[in-house]
Amino acid sequence: MKSTIRNIISTADWTAENLEKLLALRGEEQKELLGMGGETLLNKRGNEVYYRGLVEFSNVCTKDCYYCGIRKSNRNTERYDLSDDAILEAARFAHEHKYGSLVLQSGERDDPAFVERIDQLLKKIKSETNGELGITLSLGEQSAETYRRWFESGAHRYLLRIETSDESLYHQLHPNDEKHDFKKRLQCLRDLQKAGYQTGTGVMIGVPGQTLKHLAADLLFMKNFDIDMVGMGPYIEHEETPLYVKKNQLWPLQERFLTSLNMVALLRLMMPDINIAATTAMQTIDPVGREKAMQAGANVIMPNITPSNQRRNYLLYQNKPCTDEGADDCSNCLSIRLEMIGRVPGYDQWGDSEHFFRRT
Ligand code: 5AD
Ligand code: FES
Repeated sequence: MKSTIRNIISTADWTAENLEKLLALRGEEQKELLGMGGETLLNKRGNEVYYRGLVEFSNVCTKDCYYCGIRKSNRNTERYDLSDDAILEAARFAHEHKYGSLVLQSGERDDPAFVERIDQLLKKIKSETNGELGITLSLGEQSAETYRRWFESGAHRYLLRIETSDESLYHQLHPNDEKHDFKKRLQCLRDLQKAGYQTGTGVMIGVPGQTLKHLAADLLFMKNFDIDMVGMGPYIEHEETPLYVKKNQLWPLQERFLTSLNMVALLRLMMPDINIAATTAMQTIDPVGREKAMQAGANVIMPNITPSNQRRNYLLYQNKPCTDEGADDCSNCLSIRLEMIGRVPGYDQWGDSEHFFRRT
């Protein structure tokens, strides 16, 4: 690695120009960068990987994001909404398998019945698991009051990806209306922090029209926003979405993947105490993509525990892996995969973001 690059990292000189340069590293230099990300994680946080059992309980969505396979206007998706019992069963599965915590994710809805339902569910999950299971929500934009209410009912972490921190690119990825407003999204992230959540965000990497400059700005956004957790991964096209037509503008798959690895490593170097997820989208491009992300500095994994008969309908993008497996298969497969890279599951732990406790 050139001494200038090593110098940037050792002095934490995270300017936009430097980050852009680092994101472009490939070959031997990239290998070194990824190794530094992984080493920072091991030195500062250890080799535990925290599990969040992911329940994609409904693909009903009121939004129309241009990249997303379950967007409201996609008539070819069979819509489902799991029963409370099925969700509770998944929660029990996570608890019994020592996953430590659960993520409830669905398409975005904010009608009062939905808000109330989540509220009741949170209370039930908490009481059925003796308060032991941590609960993360990933339910999109909501009012500050709804966020507060769900927090009081037992959720303590929330994921809301900004998707891109560039307002103009954001508007290229979403319809231009009040339901898809960049400023509202920012406000939601602030409301989440104020409500007391460990707050997670993230971006898609390699979206048509996106450049390394955008991604360098994204890294700085996450640092400046004092974010506690991050989930980010390559953009994967879906045929039944408006963004699909921009085929000629697509980043090569491998570039999306390699850039994603650099994003993980750099963020780990910039923010050693946050949680970073090794996302499923990484595995869509490379069969050991999640493992590579962990070796570059990711310390969270989100095994899918959605009942398998519905998984195939939660296709945010095509060729999503693990959509045929049952939750038990994923559990076994994961522990073997972790062992292969010298990591251990952080069983029975919430695996909170240390950054959260420093910032609050
Ligand atoms: N490719 C990759 N990620 C996607 N997401 C949605 N659609 C896609 C896609 N086509 C991501 C978004 C969203 C998260 C739940 O899934 O970043 O926030
Ligand atoms: Fe609804 Fe993406 S458009 S989850």
